[in-house]
Amino acid sequence: MLCGGAAAIAFMVTLGTSSWTTEAAAKGRAEWKTEYSRPGEVPFPEENPYTAEKSALGHKLFFDPRLSGSDYISCGTCHNPSFSWGDGLPTGFGHKMTKLGRRTPTILNSAWGELMMWDGRFESLEEQALGPMGAEAEMNQQLDSIVEELAAIPGYRTLFNMAFPADGLTIENIGKAIATYERTIVSGIAPFDRWIAGEESAMSSAAKRGFDLYNNKANCVACHAGWNMTDSGFHDIGLPDDDIGRGNVLKNVVKMQHAFKTPTLRNIVQRAPYMHDGSLGTLKEVIDHYSDGFTRRDSLSDEMKPLKLSEDEKADLLAFLLTLEGADPMVAAPILPANDQVPGAWLKRLSPAAGGKAETPECRTARLHLRRCK
Ligand code: HEC
Ligand code: HEC
Repeated sequence: MLCGGAAAIAFMVTLGTSSWTTEAAAKGRAEWKTEYSRPGEVPFPEENPYTAEKSALGHKLFFDPRLSGSDYISCGTCHNPSFSWGDGLPTGFGHKMTKLGRRTPTILNSAWGELMMWDGRFESLEEQALGPMGAEAEMNQQLDSIVEELAAIPGYRTLFNMAFPADGLTIENIGKAIATYERTIVSGIAPFDRWIAGEESAMSSAAKRGFDLYNNKANCVACHAGWNMTDSGFHDIGLPDDDIGRGNVLKNVVKMQHAFKTPTLRNIVQRAPYMHDGSLGTLKEVIDHYSDGFTRRDSLSDEMKPLKLSEDEKADLLAFLLTLEGADPMVAAPILPANDQVPGAWLKRLSPAAGGKAETPECRTARLHLRRCK
């Protein structure tokens, strides 16, 4: 898979191993660069094509805590644009501060994603979007009552009718609107992109050497391939925890035990701590892990070999990873449709059990403590 591999090997034999990277790089760099051009447009599926109305509605839903059982947690609570659409925590917190089992992944560039979640258990963004709302540990919403609850907000009724003239507010359309918005979240132009497009001075020499390492000796490209730096595949990279990841979905496939989805490396510096369990705090720790810090076991990917990088090579690779930080657009917090001003309607939404009558003191206490009123 090395470009100019044969020439590099001949060179290695004659001159010794220390100079082969330079040789392969000199031959390969221009060719490798062609593999990293940004796509011209965002792909939207035929079943859920882009419209501005759907995307604007999805933006509101994404940041609306009223989608959760407690009315307190939105998608954006965990997928926070300030942390490159993650939450900056080793693993996040959901309903009633439940500590989650895995780190919140970014939704950046998810338009190009294939299977969703660290273990790939959802097949599309549309399907995924309904997952966290229903999950007790995340948003703890009753999926059958969410449509009713949103329908009680007049502004949403109008927005759904505009975005989906055929059927308006349905559970599927909630998923479609959110997914459409998510697909618009694309990493901005980074120094790396400017370099790929021909601006030689956009990257330092160290970062350029790092790019050569990335594609050759360090073998990152085996999994973090293409402009979005992911093959959308699942691999065990030898993190020592007990979570078997994709192994829960594909129980009998040896190589899928402890395998997790390859994350994008776009804007990666903004998303520490790293990995599905948030166990590596810095990019330096990540590089040390790949260099020779991983657990050997049957499921370990065949692409994982001790790299034995020198300190200079590690610094070059890090310099390269830092060039992947793009100038992302500001994300505005959307103005949300207001609750119905009709007396009783709001109370009914907050404590449906009270049937719109005045809230009992017990229900009020339950609500303030983010519990449902029984
Ligand atoms: C309490 C925190 C939390 C909330 C709230 C939350 N998520 Fe997530 N999200 C996560 C975690 C954790 C994962 C990964 C779980 C796993 O893989 O097992 C995830 C995974 C995802 C993924 C998959 C990303 C990928 O690359 O595979 C998408 C997309 C996503 N969430 C969107 C949403 C949407 C849309 C909402 C709101 C409806 C939402 N999330 C609400 C924490 C949260
Ligand atoms: C065998 C495939 C494979 C190879 C080779 C590989 N990676 Fe990864 N990488 C992954 C997978 C899979 C994950 C997620 C693992 C997990 O969380 O369990 C990951 C995670 C990461 C993360 C953390 C991302 C995040 O959001 O938490 C960084 C950074 C990273 N890799 C950089 C690199 C670099 C740099 C190299 C080359 C030295 C490299 N990777 C080589 C598959 C690979």
